[in-house]
Amino acid sequence: MIKNDNEISNMDLFNEVSDPTNRFKLINKFATRYMPEWFLPMLTDYARNDFYRLMIKHSVKDKIVIDLGAGTGMWTIESLAQGAKFVYVIEKNPVLINYLRFIFKDSQVKIFPKDFKDLKLADFDHGLPEVITHEIFSNTGLGEGLISAFQKASELFPEKNLNLIPRYIWVEARISKQLPLELAQQEKDLLQDKVEAYYELIHSLGIRGWDNTNGVTFESDKPMNALFVDLLEVRKDGKYALDRIPVTITPGMVHRIYLSFKFAQNLEGPFFDTAFGQNHWGGLMVEFYASKSFPVSTKYLKLELEDNLLFKNPVLEDA
Ligand SMILES: C[S@@+](CC[C@H](N)C(=O)[O-])C[C@H]1O[C@@H](n2cnc3c(N)ncnc32)[C@H](O)[C@@H]1O
Repeated sequence: MIKNDNEISNMDLFNEVSDPTNRFKLINKFATRYMPEWFLPMLTDYARNDFYRLMIKHSVKDKIVIDLGAGTGMWTIESLAQGAKFVYVIEKNPVLINYLRFIFKDSQVKIFPKDFKDLKLADFDHGLPEVITHEIFSNTGLGEGLISAFQKASELFPEKNLNLIPRYIWVEARISKQLPLELAQQEKDLLQDKVEAYYELIHSLGIRGWDNTNGVTFESDKPMNALFVDLLEVRKDGKYALDRIPVTITPGMVHRIYLSFKFAQNLEGPFFDTAFGQNHWGGLMVEFYASKSFPVSTKYLKLELEDNLLFKNPVLEDA
């Protein structure tokens, strides 16, 4: 992985692929050699790619676009290929900037090597944006400050005439229960030492892809909705939190709550739902064990949605 900005300006791939119009070739080489290991699976996640490409195709022709959190610049490339008039490329990670400058040499773009939150209206001097593409998600939540970025967007562009790709976000919960047979011996020993009524949090972790749920039986096929956000309606003083998730406790069982994400540009779809198929973003899994003497009851799983961070601090609360 790249350590600093000088290193990236000397990257071999600038010599190997000297023609910056061959941008996809560059992206792959770049991601394979220089980015964290999760980047390439993201770039080759076809569910994600098809979803974004479809939305971009129908939205950007002759439009001015912001690529918020451009990363490898994949959505900028796609927007330009689909006839966007101009793209503002915003990327706060300094190690990506020379690469982005190289691949967008001679393109109709302006690159901002900074956090979106530090931009001013006057920075958009090639005309006001009409479309925002963004992908500042992570598999452990709305991880990279998605909501606060759109709080900023609402300040910069209050007219609400932006087309957001995607605009709507849902967080959905599904529950499964099993005996603690599958737990590692160390975890089992820890649980079986205790006899009193207690619950023990085992894991709270991001899962890549939903394949981890193969063979898992959920209590209901219908997910519970824990959050719905219309990013166009996000306001600076708005409070955003996950709804508490009711969990019927079965003593002596491991309870797993899976949180997945659903995105759409329009309410009628198409949707990109991380709970289906192989996909990069996956979701979050919270797992706890309720001891054998824990009363049969309904508890409520509460997760803090700390903007800029992850869903964190899972606790079980009473009604
Ligand atoms: C998941 S990656 C985006 C992937 C990108 N769409 C691609 O195809 O390569 C998210 C990127 O957004 C950037 N980012 C996150 N929050 C940002 C912010 N507030 N301002 C600017 N860049 C941001 C991160 O540095 C990261 O490179």
